[in-house]
Amino acid sequence: MSPSATKPKINLKRIAHVYYTHANLNKAHEFLQDFGFNPVKQLEDKIYYRGYGTEPFTYCATKGSEDAFGGAAFVVDSIDDLELATQELPGASQIYDLDAPGGGKCVTFHDQVDGFPFHLVYGQEPVEMSNNLPELDYNYPTTKNRAVNKTQRFKKGPSPIHKLGHFGLCVTDYKRAFDFYTSHFNFKPSEIVYDDRGVDITTFLHLDRGEEMVDHHCFFFFEGPKFHVHHSSFEVHDFDIQALGHQWLKDKGYKLVWGVGRHVMGSQIFDYW
Ligand SMILES: [Fe+2]
Repeated sequence: MSPSATKPKINLKRIAHVYYTHANLNKAHEFLQDFGFNPVKQLEDKIYYRGYGTEPFTYCATKGSEDAFGGAAFVVDSIDDLELATQELPGASQIYDLDAPGGGKCVTFHDQVDGFPFHLVYGQEPVEMSNNLPELDYNYPTTKNRAVNKTQRFKKGPSPIHKLGHFGLCVTDYKRAFDFYTSHFNFKPSEIVYDDRGVDITTFLHLDRGEEMVDHHCFFFFEGPKFHVHHSSFEVHDFDIQALGHQWLKDKGYKLVWGVGRHVMGSQIFDYW
């Protein structure tokens, strides 16, 4: 066995929240609420939002001089994982108290190539799930699952966000990023995309949680000439809720980027704004 095979990894449990800086916080605040977030804590230059899942917050918007990505945070298995992070990750912070809804401890490090921040958290106080959206019975042309005369009535409005699903980046050195994130963490590729020369250029990573079911990906990246965040994705209840939210954003005059559609690899429905 090679030494790297026996080296302990920092165990990530789930993706938790993202940070963004906005030049126009008021405008971002308006959009985020139309998008389906609920503000949970409002400071003068910072707003925390949550979904209806158990994360104490899912999105943190900070007022700044320009629009910027402030990194995603993953919950780790134990305090030992945070300790390991401080020792193993180049330039990692010490363990510090997270001054945010839910509290907890945090370690922040910056990507060695592209410099973006990446956060690891432990010990946040979860909140109660607050969802009463029904699980619908769907009818098909010849298979009828919905009870006779059972109605389905929807209200216009934003799609309530359940949780952060994943985030994606354009990195400037794919191979280094792939080696770094898959060797230090329990990230495992669900898909690897290669170019005409057979060189790997894109990956979609899931968390290796053994027998536990996980999402197809929670982190993806591809190589490009200039680092940037591609997008962060947030999960909603079902397709009806998604479609209602799509219409809500459209009616409000927001700009649709791509969607509604269904991805090939992860099979998930997408809708980019
Ligand atoms: Fe995505």
